Formats: sequence, C-alpha cells, structure tokens
Amino acid sequence: MDPAGIVGEVKAARLLGRGGAAYPAGSKWEQLLAIEGFPKYIVCNADEGEPGTFKDRFIMERVPFRLIEGMTIAARVFGASEGYVYVRGEYRSVQKGLLKAIASARAAGLLGRGIMGGALDFDVSIVSGAGAYVCGENSALLNSTQGLAGRPRIKPPHLAEVGLFGAPTLVNNVESFANVPAIVSMGGKAFLDLGHPEGGGTKLVCLSGHVARPGVYEVPLGSLTLRDAVFSPELGGGIRGGGRLKFLHLGGQSGPVARPDQLDTVYSYSDLRKAGLSVGSGAVVVLDESVRLTAYLSAVARFFVRESCGKCGPCRDGAPAVLKLMTELDDPGAARRGTLDQLKALSDLMNEAAFCGLGRTATVAFRSAWKAFPEEFERNALGVSASRGRFAWVMRAIAGRPARDAIGASIRCSWLVHPLHRGRPSVAPKGLPSDRGRLSVPPSVCAPFRARADMRGTRRFRKENGGSGSPGGCRRSCGARPWRGNRDDPAEKAMFRRK
Ligand SMILES: Cc1cc2nc3c(=O)[nH]c(=O)nc-3n(C[C@H](O)[C@H](O)[C@H](O)COP(=O)(O)O)c2cc1C
Ligand code: SF4
Repeated sequence: MDPAGIVGEVKAARLLGRGGAAYPAGSKWEQLLAIEGFPKYIVCNADEGEPGTFKDRFIMERVPFRLIEGMTIAARVFGASEGYVYVRGEYRSVQKGLLKAIASARAAGLLGRGIMGGALDFDVSIVSGAGAYVCGENSALLNSTQGLAGRPRIKPPHLAEVGLFGAPTLVNNVESFANVPAIVSMGGKAFLDLGHPEGGGTKLVCLSGHVARPGVYEVPLGSLTLRDAVFSPELGGGIRGGGRLKFLHLGGQSGPVARPDQLDTVYSYSDLRKAGLSVGSGAVVVLDESVRLTAYLSAVARFFVRESCGKCGPCRDGAPAVLKLMTELDDPGAARRGTLDQLKALSDLMNEAAFCGLGRTATVAFRSAWKAFPEEFERNALGVSASRGRFAWVMRAIAGRPARDAIGASIRCSWLVHPLHRGRPSVAPKGLPSDRGRLSVPPSVCAPFRARADMRGTRRFRKENGGSGSPGGCRRSCGARPWRGNRDDPAEKAMFRRK
C-alpha cells in the first residue's frame, strides 16, 4: 500500500485521537502528508498524566509491538527516520520494558536501517517525561522532548508544519498508534464497523474508584452504555461494598461529571457528547455516596493549581481563585451568596482566555457537576454576601492580561490573586484595599513559581537520568520572571514600586 492509500484507510476507519481531544487521526495524517518539508518526525504521546487513566501503560507493558508497528507504519507514510516515545517520567518500569521491546524489534530487523530488507530506515527512542501534567499537551511535549521547558507554545504554526526541532511532526497517542496496524491489516471500513459510525474501532476504558472490578477494558465504541461498563459482571461488576453510585467522572480531571440518571447513555464519542459528557482519555472514575461532591471538586481544583505551568494569567491566577472558592463552597460556614456566580464567571473567563487546554478545561468538572447536582452547591452558598468589588477587580486584572501572555512577550507577576495563596508581604501596589497590600508578593520571584517548582523532584529526575535531565532549570514551572511593568508608564511604575 502506498502512503496515500494508508492515509485513506486511516480516514475510512474514522479513528478519533485516543489522547483526549478526539481529533480525527486521518485528517491529521492527511495534513502532514500534504506538507513537503523534511525530515519529518513521529512522536508518540505516552505521558499519560490524566488521573484515572492507565490504558497507555497497559499497551506499553502488554503489547508494546503494536505501538512500535503503528509508529513504523507512520514512518513509512511520512518518510520519517526518527521516532520518539515520550513516556511518563513516573513509569520507570514501563520505560525499561519498552526499551527492551525496541531492542528486540531492532534485533529482528523490524527497526533500524533497511527494515525487513526494504528501503525504510526508522528507529525509535524513548524520552522520559518531566513529571508535569501539562507536558502531555502536544506542543509542551515537543518542547520538553527537545530539552526546553515543558510549556505549551502558541499555535499556529501547527505541529504538522513546525514541530520537533522545527520540522513537520506527527504527534499521536499510544492507543491511536496501536490501532493503526489493525486498520492497515483489516481495512478502514472493517475497523469502522467494529465501532460507531462516527468513530470506529474499540476503546480502552479505565475503570477506577468505588467499582468492584477496576481495570482496563476494551469495549467496541457504541455497543454498550455507561451502565454496562460499570455494572455488568464482565466489566466493572457494580459498586464496591454494595454502595450506591453517586456520580461518574469521565475522561480525566478535565472531563465532565455524569449523574446516575445518565447511565443509559451509549459509550461512544458522539452519544456522550450529545449528553454533555465526553470519552476524553477513557477514564471512568466511579464515586459512591460516601463522597462529598464539593470536597471531590476541591481536590480536582487543587490538581489544576498544582499543575498550572504559570505561563498565562487566566490559568495561573484563575486556578488558585477557583480552588479558594471551591473550598469555601465545601465549608458551610465559609460560603457566600455570590460564590457560585463568581465561580461561574471565573470558569467562563478561564475557558475563553487560557492559553492551553489545561486552563480551558480546568473547570469542566465543576460546571457539569453544578448542572447535575445544583442542590449540593446551593445548600452551602447561603452565607453572607460576597465582596463583589474585590472580585470584580481580580477578574478585570486577569482578563486584561491574556493578550500580553499569549504572545509570550512578558509574564506579569500576579500579585493580585496571590493574596489567595497567602504570599509574603513585600510590595504594596498603591490604591489597593488594605488586605491586598498586606499580602502581595515580592516582584522578583513569583510565589507560585517557588511553590510549584518542586526542585527536589527535578534533582531526583536528573540523578536518575544520569545527569541528563531537565537542562535550564525546573521544567515543571513556567520559568518566567514576573513582569515588572512598563517603566515608561508612571502609573504602572508606581504599582510595582517598593514600599
Ligand atoms: C494539559 C493537557 C494534557 C494532555 N495530556 C495528554 C496525555 O497525557 N496523553 C495524550 O495522549 N494526550 C494528552 N493531551 C492531548 C494532546 O495534546 C494531543 O491532543 C494528543 O497527544 C494527540 O494525539 P491523539 O490525536 O492521538 O489523541 C493533553 C492535552 C492537554 C491540553
Ligand atoms: S498557565 Fe496557561 S499555558 Fe500554562 S498550563 Fe495553564 S493554561 Fe496552559
């Protein structure tokens, strides 16, 4: 089969990207095939940072040759001679196993020069992930692979044009690549028929939480419902300990929450989307009635605060603000009447203005949960009235920065929401309410940068990688220095003047 024929089969299979975004693999391959530049690179996203997701690990441990074969087919299509698998840093044993599989493929003449006696030269290397969720975002992943800070970059130019080392690059998830050999051998149409007309094939579902039989299950898309997945004796086997289901969290921390009355939704990309849900990474976290929804959502919000890379204001400042409001909502004495409105406004802002998918999807769980269980939220939001002035001011300030942050020209230290972190007093911008002056952050080093940097982790990473890891400092942080203001503008200069 020639390259165009293989791409045609992948298109006919309607393989939707299994990494979470569900972008059609056929279209991605077609776009890259149309681009003329050489060399082209094949990169596999095996970062698998989404909590509740462990299917890529399963593939790499149990059927690594499927992944290697899928990448080799892609190399044949695009004439690539180098491929990289970016494996989650914590998956040490998986990395070792995959290295062995690559070595045996090489020994069998299935990788390296003149594969199977033909003209194709292709080899695969492993890159150990940098330990941050955002490194799974494909542009951050390529930066991290090159040894740069694992932060997303602006697109366009798309990775198909300017990717790894500035060359055209294909980035696909492990499960996406692992499906390619089946598509080529059985044909795109047969693969499509295995699944749903709008998204062919099978999907690996990761069941975890309060489910009797947690694990990875392969299910044909469109052939069973969420109820089947959780309650069927061959799959989840029901709720552990005989409890009652309270909700499901689908697709990872950035995915929506499903109510028990949505259990009859068919498990396919389009049916879940119509019901306001999503397949995402394939995670299905099952939670029983012992779980307090607002406490669960506070934990989700904490995850995003910890994982925000700090590059853009809406996420860097918005995520801690969401956590604070969520924590208030979880505490009946602390919730205020406007807390829910504030959360909604922040969520809208982050969704529209955050630089990458991490910030844009950080409040998806909250929004869907509020829709699904309004009474749980409103019960606690009946305290005193919120301080609207201060909140509006925070919102304005966050909203004012995305353009500046997006072009990456300068990153402004966000002293205005840092009071929520309880940062150390140092600079008191003029004209602010007294509590903000008291708690603002030193201009030279951003407090969340210090908090998130986790330098111990980085040192460990370097040591374990023979000193080769993470050049240029901590890859978990944005690496940015706070913006000091436009020194020619007296008003801005005054804001950053030391007391
Ligand atoms: C914050 C963030 C984290 C992500 N993490 C992963 C990941 O761990 N694995 C993955 O395959 N895709 C992840 N993605 C999606 C990738 O950016 C990209 O869409 C995917 O690797 C493309 O492959 P696919 O089309 O085969 O799904 C993440 C996206 C975002 C925004
Ligand atoms: S700070 Fe911006 S760029 Fe960084 S993870 Fe959040 S949304 Fe993405």
